[in-house]
Amino acid sequence: MRTPIPDYLTEILDSVRDIKDGEVADYIPALKDADPNLLGIAMTTAEGHTYSAGDVEAEFSIQSMSKPFAYAATLTDRGIDFVETKIDVEPSGDAFNDLSIEEDTKRPKNAMINAGAILAHQMLIGEDATMQERVDRVTDFFSALAGRKLTMDKEVFQSEMDHSHRNLAFAHMLTSYGMMEGKAHEAVAGYTAQCSILVNVQDIAMMSATLATGGVHPVTGERVIKRSVVRHVLSVMASSGMYDSAGEWFTDVGIPAKSGVAGGILGAIPGQLGVGVFSPLLDSHGNSVRGVEVFKRMSSDMSMHMM
Ligand code: DON
Repeated sequence: MRTPIPDYLTEILDSVRDIKDGEVADYIPALKDADPNLLGIAMTTAEGHTYSAGDVEAEFSIQSMSKPFAYAATLTDRGIDFVETKIDVEPSGDAFNDLSIEEDTKRPKNAMINAGAILAHQMLIGEDATMQERVDRVTDFFSALAGRKLTMDKEVFQSEMDHSHRNLAFAHMLTSYGMMEGKAHEAVAGYTAQCSILVNVQDIAMMSATLATGGVHPVTGERVIKRSVVRHVLSVMASSGMYDSAGEWFTDVGIPAKSGVAGGILGAIPGQLGVGVFSPLLDSHGNSVRGVEVFKRMSSDMSMHMM
């Protein structure tokens, strides 16, 4: 007899529950107090059915999982060709918080590392947009993808802003190279607000499912992202979404994915599923330890690997 999907998801969570390796992110003080035992999973099919297990209601900041969606909005607003003159599509092989700017063109290597994501955020809408308009743009877009109104965690935002010297340095470097539109400080504040948007595993599964369908929202049936933009975003996620462990991730799991330092990992299996997993303990790359294990197990059980 086949195992029903919710039982299967519970069984996967139980199989990783005893893994206690890793640390909660502490460079953002507000994330230090996260409960390391939290563990949840959700998956949304291309037809719009969501299955979930574990800590489904637990909210956490989206952090770097915001990057592919904000990038999709920037590509939509400014066009793929123009955005590529500012942000490259090459894997950096470096950590998310390395500068990774190309020596000749001064472009950040990709939009998944911080430097590229800060620039992508600042390019939203158009050159004359205000910081509030850019923050509203991503909040509204993420809410449309999740299918509910998302809000920002002000404490996480302030806590990261108080310690964002490195991201500010990147923004100032990009400004000095003539790559940044507007003010460096506003770029980092807007990007940090974007990272502080609260989600749960069902939200990130639903958001990823729209990538999996090629841009059509699985529940409303509306086209919310152009197919060409989705293809671009998924390609960059596949090569760079897991930073300096992107190669290991793609060989082991084999799907485009993105992690965040609050402990979320999302994955999109084209034509099939969006998956979201949450567990706050992180490995040295900033990826959820139990989250990576859950994806490895699902990939093997469900033949998710694209190769
Ligand atoms: O820029 C930062 O440091 C954070 N707001 C986001 C970093 C992040 O989530 C990296 N991913 N694993």
